[in-house]
Amino acid sequence: MKKVILTGLRANNDLHIGNYLGALLPFIDMAKSKAGEYQLNLFMPDLHSITTPIDHSKLQGTIMDNLKVFAAAGLPLDNSDIYLYRQSYVPAHSELTVLLNNFTGFGEMGRMTQFKDKSQRINAEAYDRTGAQDFKLPETPHDIKMRVAESRVSVGLFDYPVLMACDILLYNATYVPVGDDQSQHLEFTRDIAIRMNAKFGDLFTVPVEVKKQHEFFGKDQGLRIKDLLDPSKKMSKSDETGKGVIFMTDSPEVATKKIMAAATDSIGMVNYDPVKQPGISNLLQILALLTGKDPQETADEYSGQTQYGDFKKDVAKAVADFLTDFQAKLAKVDNAAILAKLEKDEAAMREQANATLLKVQQAVGLRPKA
Ligand code: TRP
Repeated sequence: MKKVILTGLRANNDLHIGNYLGALLPFIDMAKSKAGEYQLNLFMPDLHSITTPIDHSKLQGTIMDNLKVFAAAGLPLDNSDIYLYRQSYVPAHSELTVLLNNFTGFGEMGRMTQFKDKSQRINAEAYDRTGAQDFKLPETPHDIKMRVAESRVSVGLFDYPVLMACDILLYNATYVPVGDDQSQHLEFTRDIAIRMNAKFGDLFTVPVEVKKQHEFFGKDQGLRIKDLLDPSKKMSKSDETGKGVIFMTDSPEVATKKIMAAATDSIGMVNYDPVKQPGISNLLQILALLTGKDPQETADEYSGQTQYGDFKKDVAKAVADFLTDFQAKLAKVDNAAILAKLEKDEAAMREQANATLLKVQQAVGLRPKA
C-alpha cells in the first residue's frame, strides 16, 4: 500500500499573489511530483471553517471558489493518486471526533496556543461590539459584556485539534505538510495516536514528527512575499487598505498601479539584498517567481541602471500578464469536472475512513469484534 500524504486546505476568502506563489503553487508542484509513489489526500476542512463565527451564507460559495482556484492553478483533476474531498462529506470525521473526545484531556486542549490566541481575539472583538445599553442590571455592564463575549468562543473551537487529529488518523497518513502554526496540533495527533495504540493495540499509523516532516518536504515551502508598501511585513489579506497586496482578482490595471506605487529606497540600484533593500528585493522575488528565474539572476539583468522606473514597469507587466492569464484560466474551469471528481473521491474516502472508524468502534466496545 502507498504511504499517505495528507493536508487540509483552509477555504480562504481573498487569495493574493503572496499565498498563491509562495504556498499554493509549490504545494501543487509537490502533489504532482509525489503522486505515483504516494497517495495524496487534499481536502477542504469545511467543519473547521465553522469553529469561529463566520457568515454562513458565504461558505458554500467560498468552498467552490477555492476549489476552482486549485484547478486553475494546475491541480490535476484526473490523477488517481490525488484525492480531493470535502471533510463534511465523509461523516467518519465527525464520528471519530466524538469517540476520541473521550480520550482527550480538557487541560490538554486548553493549552493549545491556537485556541488561546483565537479565543482571545474572539473575546476582544465581541467585547468591542457589545453595547452595554442593551442589558439590564443586576449584572454590571462589564459582567454582561464579558459573558456575551465568552459565549462566542465555542466548544467546537476548543475541539478543533481533535477533529484535525481525526482528519489525519482516519487515513493512516504518514506525512502532513502544515505551517508552523499547526505544529502543535500535529504533535497532539501523534500523542493521541500513540496513546490509543498503547491502550488498544495497533489502531492508527502515527504520523512522523514535525522535524522529519520538514526534512521530507524541504523547508523552503513557506516562501514569503512581502507587503508592497511595508516590506517589513508579509503580504496579508488583513491589510486594511489592500494597497500593499495584489489580490488574484485584481484587474491588471489595478495591479499595475499597486506595483508602480510600491515602496523602494533611495539607493537607486537594483540589488537583491533583502536587508538593505527590502522593497526592491521583494519586487525581484515576485519577478523571479513569475519568470522562473532566481532573484539574483534577475537583479543582474538590471545592473548599471540608476533608477527604478524601468524595473518597476517590467515587474508590473509581468504581474499584469500573469493575472490576465490566471483569470482566463479561472473563467474556463469546468465546474462539472470538479463536482464529478469530488463525488468520486468522497465515495472512495468514505470507504477508507469507515474502515478505520470500525476498528476504533470495535476497540472501544461499540461494535462486536470480527
Ligand atoms: N488546521 C489546518 C489549518 O488551519 C487545516 C487542517 C484541518 C489540516 N485539518 C487538517 C491540515 C489536517 C492538515 C491535516 O491550516
